[in-house]
Parts: sequence; C-alpha cells; structure tokens
Amino acid sequence: ARIDVDLSDATAISDELYGLFYEDINHAADGGLYAELVQNRSFEFSAADEGSYHPLTAWQVTGTAAVADEHPLNDANPSYLSAAAGTAIVNAGYNTGMAFADGDDYDLSVWASADAPTELRVALLDADGNPLSATEKIRVKGNGQWKRYEAELTADADATTGRLAVTTTGAADLDMVSLFPEDTYRGRENGLRADLAELIADLDPGFLRFPGGCIVNTGSFDPDSRERAYNWKDTVGPVEERPTNHNFWGYNQSYGLGYFEYFQFAEDIGAEPLPVVPVGVTGCGDSAEITDPEELDRWVQDTLDLIEFANGPVTSEWGSVRASMGHRKPFGLEKIGLGNEEYKEQYYANYPAFQDAIREAYPDIEIVANSGVDDTGDVFDRSWEFAREQGADLVDEHYYNSPEWFFSNNERYDSYDRQGPHVFVGEYASRSNTWWSALSEASYLTGIERNGDVVDMASYAPLLSNIDYVDWAPDMIWFDNHRTVKSASYEVQHLFANNAGDEVLASTLDASPIASPDIAGGIGLATWNTAATYDDVTVTGADGAPLFADDFADGAADWTVGGNTAGVWEAADGAYSQTALVEDARSTAGSADWSNYTLELQATKTAG
Ligand code: AHR
Repeated sequence: ARIDVDLSDATAISDELYGLFYEDINHAADGGLYAELVQNRSFEFSAADEGSYHPLTAWQVTGTAAVADEHPLNDANPSYLSAAAGTAIVNAGYNTGMAFADGDDYDLSVWASADAPTELRVALLDADGNPLSATEKIRVKGNGQWKRYEAELTADADATTGRLAVTTTGAADLDMVSLFPEDTYRGRENGLRADLAELIADLDPGFLRFPGGCIVNTGSFDPDSRERAYNWKDTVGPVEERPTNHNFWGYNQSYGLGYFEYFQFAEDIGAEPLPVVPVGVTGCGDSAEITDPEELDRWVQDTLDLIEFANGPVTSEWGSVRASMGHRKPFGLEKIGLGNEEYKEQYYANYPAFQDAIREAYPDIEIVANSGVDDTGDVFDRSWEFAREQGADLVDEHYYNSPEWFFSNNERYDSYDRQGPHVFVGEYASRSNTWWSALSEASYLTGIERNGDVVDMASYAPLLSNIDYVDWAPDMIWFDNHRTVKSASYEVQHLFANNAGDEVLASTLDASPIASPDIAGGIGLATWNTAATYDDVTVTGADGAPLFADDFADGAADWTVGGNTAGVWEAADGAYSQTALVEDARSTAGSADWSNYTLELQATKTAG
C-alpha cells in the first residue's frame, strides 16, 4: 500500500471534536455516576411512577413505620417515614447492595424530626445483617422540627452486598436518609463515583453534552406531573428540595446529580458544558406539546435563566443561586442545545421563540438545533433546511447503525454544505460492543476528522450503563456497584481524543479497501437496511453457494421480526444455517414500517 500526503492541503480539526454525551439512561446517574448509595432516600417512590415501586422500595423495615405526609420536609419532598421506637430500617442500595471498602469512610446524613429528644443508631451491615462498621449514635432534638444530622461510618471489611441500617430508640420521623463514600471524585460533597468519573475524565473530553437524550423532552410539561419533561430548575439548590422525577427510561431520578453538578463535573474534567433544553415539544415517541404562548414564554424564560445560572454575575438572581451552591465564578457556558430529536411541526413553531430570546439577551451563545437523521443516516425531514433558515450555529445529528454502515459512510461529510450550520454528531454508535463495531467507529472518525471544517463536535452514545438496569445497548462504559468495564468503543474514543491532531493533511491511499468479512468463511456479518432498494436480496457464500435469498417486500413471511428477535434459515442444500438479528426494532418514524429497520445477517457455515 502507498499513502501520498499533500503537505500544502491542511484542514483544521476542532479542538473540541471529541466529547461526551451523558444521559441518565441505564441508571447512569442514580445507581451510577452519582455516588449516593441509598436508593429511594426520600421515600417518594410510588406505584404511580412504576408498577413495581412503592414508598418503601429498597427499604426493609423491622418494627413499626409508615410513610406519611402530614408535616413534609418541604413541598418538593412530601413523603417521609414515621417510625416508632425501636424500629430498624435497612436500605439495600442498587445492584447486589452497597459496595464498601475496608477502612474507607462513609458520610451519613438524615433529616429527622421528633417530639421528644431521642437517639438514632446508624451502622453499615452486610446482607445477612452482620455489622460492617461500629454503630454511631445521633442525638435528635425533641422540638418537632426537621433538622439535618450527620455521622461518619468506617467500613471494617470489603463488601459488595452492603446495607445501611438506621434504628430509632424513640419515635422519630425520617427523610433524606443518605450515604456517600467520603472519597468521591475530587472529594466533592454530593459528589460523583470516583472510578467512573476518572474513566470519563481519562477520555480527555472537549465537551459534555447533558442531561440527554430522550429524558430532556419526554413526559409532561405540567410541573405537577410525576413524569415531567426535564426542567433544570428542578435540579438545583439543596438536594432535599429537589423533587423526584420518573423518567422516560422507566425509573425514578433523584436529581441529586443536577445542573450544578453537571457544570461542576464539566469544569473538573476540562470539558465545555453543553446543556440541552426542551423547547415545548416532546420527542422519542411522546406527544406532549406546548402551544399556549404564555406557557411557552415560561420555558423560554427558564432557558434564559439557565444561561444566567451558568454565566451571570453573583448579583443576578440565578447567578446568586450558583454562588450559593459554591461556585461564584461563572461556568463559561458557550453553547446550548434546543431540543433533542425534535422533528415535529411544533418544534419549528416553538424554536424561534427560544433562539430569538437567546440571540437578543446573549448574542455570543451558540445555538444547536436538531436534525432529523434516521437510523440509516438519511435526513428524513426538513430539519436541516429549517436550521439553515434560522441561522442555527450547529445541527445535532444522531445515528445508530451497523458496522458496515460506518465503514461505508466514511465520506458522509465530504459533500456537506460549508456555508450553513456546522455539524455536531451528538449521538452515534455502531450497534454492538464488539471489536468490529469499535473498528468501524474508528474508521468513521477518520472521515469526521477529514471534515474538520464542518464537523465541530462528535460524541459516542450512550456513555454509561449499569449492567443490572440496561435500557439501551451498546454503551461505552459498563459498571455494577463496584466494577467498571471499558468497551472496545471506549478504547477508540480514548485513542482518538487523547491523540487528536490540530489539522488533517489531504492524502490518498493506494490499497484495497477493507472488505466485509467473508460470510462463508466461518462467522461473518452482512448488513443492509430494508429500504426499497434492497428488495430481492440474495446472499451468497464465497464458494458461490446460496446462503439466503429473500424478497423484502414480503418480509414478515420469511423473517421473524421483532425487538432483537432471531430467525434461522436453512439453505436449500442444508449446507448453511443463517441467523438474522433485527438489531433495533425501534422505528424512527414511530410506526412498524419495515423501511425503518436495520437487519444484520450472521451466517455460520455448519456443514457441507
Ligand atoms: O442514546 C440513547 C437515545 O438515543 C437517546 O436518549 C436519544 O436521543 C436517542 O434516540
């Protein structure tokens, strides 16, 4: 092979090209990056959120206790536990329990209220109830007022099935029962799990896009709903004043990891913060829309307030909230995303109100609009045209696709318009956590770098997945309550981000292109989508023997179709078996339209 390089033809590569997409999906926050060990610390879980939930989810009570709401801690946190004397409550955390390390300290806090002076006894336990720490005593005042109490517990053994026990000696009301490892990332209070945060920081990210993803703009716009679209104001201030929210991915968020913590984390890892806010239209299959101008104005104002929270002086209303949380200096917000995968008419109707208000109040802030790219990478609506008309600075493209798609679309951006908005590839992944997928991502990134004059930023998605709460795969980093696993895709991101060049030089390669693996040679992989152009597909092995033929027009008759369902075919001569996997049965058009599925065929030679 021969590579010719033109030293006089250089294209600059954005110095924030490689960044992060963080979404609270797969329990990425609670039970994940957010270091809180107690699940349902505020007794707010309810069957109204999730069928399997109840106010004592993750708690075991020995004695007499009931969830009450007569004298709540505050309006955002209406439920608490009213416990009789001599009651023990034990929290099981996430996964197999809480992970403790021998000799490490754990910070306990609890809000309590009692009518007579009393004591709480707190300790770490193993799953069988044996102590893993000394028991500490907390003296509770008897004035009937809520007050926050603290204790430090030191683990005297390693454990991965640990528990936290709080025992009353007299009657007491309890709320916000919380336990953090003292050793959070950078030692921050209300902080992040150090091992996960360090893996993320090691990626040397240029930016951090947060908080989603679908959770940004799914649910209801009614502030009293139990499943609300993400409003950043729910997530700042004292943690006990942040409401619990049921999210799109089917579990409750404490919002303990909220906007302040996201900005702080971005700063800690040297990444530019890139928040995404809803613009009054739900996506990801949800249908709520804001059409009332007054209601829309409130969300526009919330967006302006967010910019003030991030960048405003400490004398401003929201800058002072930031300062009260411990960060007087502005966070230096430069970009904001308006909407996540919003391709509806109401998006086009609502977006200008947000963009106009931001441009007027903060002309230097760059605005990221949405792009309607489907799973084949094709733009399927007028979003790009709209972003151009509006003069958006960037457009956020998302696509999840097969390794072959990534290999064969290396030139995607070569022909992109250089005059319009720049590209933010806000979410992409090759659909598996295999080496082959990671290689296809690496190959694709060379095309992105080559187009550094139009692609400013790119982030793999999703970032995190707790192995016991998987909503979506593949993911970049996997974890349980004490271990982390880097995927092959993580290694690709790490390699590219930590070795990013300043410019790419024009080059030509004289060599055979990477071919798809040989299907008949053992295990192979062929991928296509079921767009009309793929009607009448025939797959043949290297020896020319027919592996499989089908007319996709009658798809369902020959294929077993459904979410990740496998179908098996015998070739006419019995020489092969083939397995087709419907990799993602999610239809981007919100219907079961065949043209929106991507199919992968894995063929194994079994005989002949
Ligand atoms: O990354 C997982 C999901 O994929 C995101 O929430 C959404 O934006 C996309 O559809």
